[in-house]
Amino acid sequence: MKVLALNSSPRTGNKSKTELLLNHLVRGMREAGADVEEVELRKKSIRSCIGCFTCWTKTPGVCIHKDDMTRELFPKWKEADLVVYATPLYHFTANASMKAFIERTLPALQPFFKERDGKTSHPARFRHPKVVVLSVAGFPEMSVFDQLSSWANFVFGRSGALVAEIYRPMAESMTTPFHRAKAEEALQATVQAGREIVETMRVSEETLARVTQPLVKDPRPFFEIANLMWKTCIAEGVTPGELAERRLVPRPDSLESFMAILSMGFRPEEAGDMRATIQFRFTGEVEGACRFRIENSRIEAAVGAEESPDLAIEAPFSLWMDILAGKADGRRMFMEQKYKVAGDLSLLAGLSRLFGG
Ligand SMILES: Cc1cc2nc3c(=O)[nH]c(=O)nc-3n(C[C@H](O)[C@H](O)[C@H](O)COP(=O)(O)O)c2cc1C
Repeated sequence: MKVLALNSSPRTGNKSKTELLLNHLVRGMREAGADVEEVELRKKSIRSCIGCFTCWTKTPGVCIHKDDMTRELFPKWKEADLVVYATPLYHFTANASMKAFIERTLPALQPFFKERDGKTSHPARFRHPKVVVLSVAGFPEMSVFDQLSSWANFVFGRSGALVAEIYRPMAESMTTPFHRAKAEEALQATVQAGREIVETMRVSEETLARVTQPLVKDPRPFFEIANLMWKTCIAEGVTPGELAERRLVPRPDSLESFMAILSMGFRPEEAGDMRATIQFRFTGEVEGACRFRIENSRIEAAVGAEESPDLAIEAPFSLWMDILAGKADGRRMFMEQKYKVAGDLSLLAGLSRLFGG
């Protein structure tokens, strides 16, 4: 089976989640024996269809434009048994580059009208390849793909060309360490989906359910962390990509968000067989205490103080958030007695190792 896998994300440098998902789908397709060619549309010049209908009249089947679509991509599209349209979800549908590509496949149709059961269409000029639509979205609910799916089913489904739709919500979180386990399950299921498409021309319900499985039970804490991330980007004048490159941490603005951020940064592999309770008591802009129980490579956060924690830190909230965000040096602040510590000082020294990025 000859497969043309088109990726229309404009993102580079391993930042594209469309690419992440597509790579896994393609891996499965290749494992099942398909001959797959991947094309990044952002590297190609594809002009907009100008609606002249030259491809329907003067040069039937050939577009008037002289660009990468006419020279290279349309011939490949015509030869493919199956084409994967992989697009980021932009404004709840395919992005403009993918839409431009699809509109430029107009030469594949003939101009004539035909009608069946009250539905109008144009007859095909060439054999249409089978279609897989793949998309990723920022929002967590599956319903964000409703419009894209409805469109894909209308455009490719009526002729029987559409064989599968692979949608992944909350895709931006696929690469955060906190969601690694669930994300990996979804990616492995995407590999399986690739195999199934080549072997059976469909994807089973069970595999699809694993691809789309929620990364979190309740998206509300995710929104809070995401909003903190955006606030930090705005305050620091950086894009999310730059925030990640500089290993900056979203700056908590409450006890709850501090507990969430610290828990997300916890590195179980560093904790090993550690059993300890680390407690914070904050003063200033946020007042109150919270504690983290580390045991069996797991962390559990709770509001309030306990009687004898292994390490107790008493600090102004804003100072500790500066230390967390890397804006203040925790060691120096300790020497300058800007915060107080009681208990096991080796735990204090190991904090930055225990709570990474
Ligand atoms: C212009 C634009 C529009 C977007 N529209 C939506 C949207 O309608 N729904 C959604 O859930 N995410 C939306 N997103 C988020 C993207 O789908 C998300 O960031 C995705 O990971 C992008 O794919 P990529 O990483 O392959 O580029 C939008 C992003 C951009 C830049």
